[in-house]
Amino acid sequence: MVIKKLSDKIYMFRQVDWELKEFHGPIYPLDNGTTYNSYLILDEQVTLIDTMEDEFMSIFKIKLREVLNGRDIDNLIVNHVEPDHSGGFLDIFENFNVKNVYTSTSGKRSMQKQFFKDVEYTKVATNETLSIGEYTLKFFLTPFVHWPDNMVTYLVEEKFLFSNDAFGQHITSTHTFANEFGFGRVLESAKEYYANIVLPYSDRVVPVLEALSNIEIKAIFPAHGIAYKDSVPLIIEEYRKWAEGEVVKKAVVIYDSMWGNSKTISLTIGEALYDSGLDVKRFQISKMRSSTIMKEIMDAKYIFVGTGNHNSTMIPSVADFIERISGSRVKNKKGLTFGSYGWSKDFAKKLESRVSEAGIELIGEGIYVNYVPTEEDLSEIYNKIINIIEEDK
Ligand code: FEO
Repeated sequence: MVIKKLSDKIYMFRQVDWELKEFHGPIYPLDNGTTYNSYLILDEQVTLIDTMEDEFMSIFKIKLREVLNGRDIDNLIVNHVEPDHSGGFLDIFENFNVKNVYTSTSGKRSMQKQFFKDVEYTKVATNETLSIGEYTLKFFLTPFVHWPDNMVTYLVEEKFLFSNDAFGQHITSTHTFANEFGFGRVLESAKEYYANIVLPYSDRVVPVLEALSNIEIKAIFPAHGIAYKDSVPLIIEEYRKWAEGEVVKKAVVIYDSMWGNSKTISLTIGEALYDSGLDVKRFQISKMRSSTIMKEIMDAKYIFVGTGNHNSTMIPSVADFIERISGSRVKNKKGLTFGSYGWSKDFAKKLESRVSEAGIELIGEGIYVNYVPTEEDLSEIYNKIINIIEEDK
C-alpha cells in the first residue's frame, strides 16, 4: 500500500490489487487487476473518505495509524456501499473511535442491510456542507452513477472532487495523476470502466455532469485508478459524450461460429464496412473479453450480430451477449444480423427480434447463408453491405 501526500493535510492511500481477475463479478473480466483509493484529511476533525476491500484492511489499518499518529477518526464518509469501498467499514468504525458516519439515504439503508448493525448514520443531501476545521466538505448525490446510493464529496477550499466509482479506471500503477501515466492510456481504461459499469445509467450521468459544471474542480480523485489534474476538463468531456450516447464512424461485428461459416461471413462484412470508410472491430464473442467488446460497442454507430444455427436458436454465447447489450441500454445504434445455417433457419427470427429489442435498429434484412458461403454469396454480401451503409449516410 502506498501513501501519497496530496497537500499538507490530505493523504491518499492506494492499494494495487494485481490479482483481481473479475470486477463486480464475471461481467467485467480484467487483465491487470485494479486499485482501491481511500482519502484521509487531517483537519481539526479527522475525516476518512471511503475505506476499501476487507482483504486489505490489516495493512490499511497499520498505514492509517502511521499517519494518524495517535489521533482518532472523527468522520467517516461513505460515498458508496459496495464492498470494494465499504468492506472495511466496521473495522474502521470499531477501531478508530469514529464519531460520525455520513452517507446518502439509500446508502444508510444498504449499509444497515450489509452489516446488520445499527450504526448511527447522518444522511446527507446534495449541496449540504460539513465544516471539519479549515476545510469544508460539500456533498453531491449521484444516484445510479452507478448504484442508488452513490454520492461524491467535494473539498471546497482545495477544489478536489472525491468521486468514488465515477471517473474510475482499472489502472494498476503507483502514479498519482493521469498525465504521469499517459492520459490516452487512462482514457481507454476509463472508457472500458464506463461501458461496463456506468453505461446503463447514462441518463443519470447527464444531470450529475450538469451539477458538477457549476463548481470549479482542480482535481478528481476516484476510488479506483489514477487521479486527474490537468486532464479534468478532458475526462469530463469524454463522460459527457459517453453519457449522451455519441457515436463515431465505427462498426463492431460480433459473432460466434460452429464450423467457421458465420466467421467467413463476418470477414466479408468487416471488409465491406472498412471499404465504406468505417473503423471496424470484429470479435468472436466466446474468444474475447466481454468487457473489451462492451468498450468498443459503446461509441460504435453500427453493430452487426451473427451466429450459426444451434438447436434452432442462436449459439448460447451470442444470446448471452445480446442480453448484455440489452441491459446496457445502448443508444443510437444501427445494425444487421447474419449467420449460416444447415437444415433449419429458425434462429433468424429470434436473432432479429432479440437484437432489435436490445436497442439496435435493423437497417436491412438479415444476411443468412445455407451451409458454406460460396464466392458468389460473399460477393453479394459485400455489395449489399456497401449499399446499405451508403444509403444510411
Ligand atoms: Fe461500485 Fe467500486 O464499486
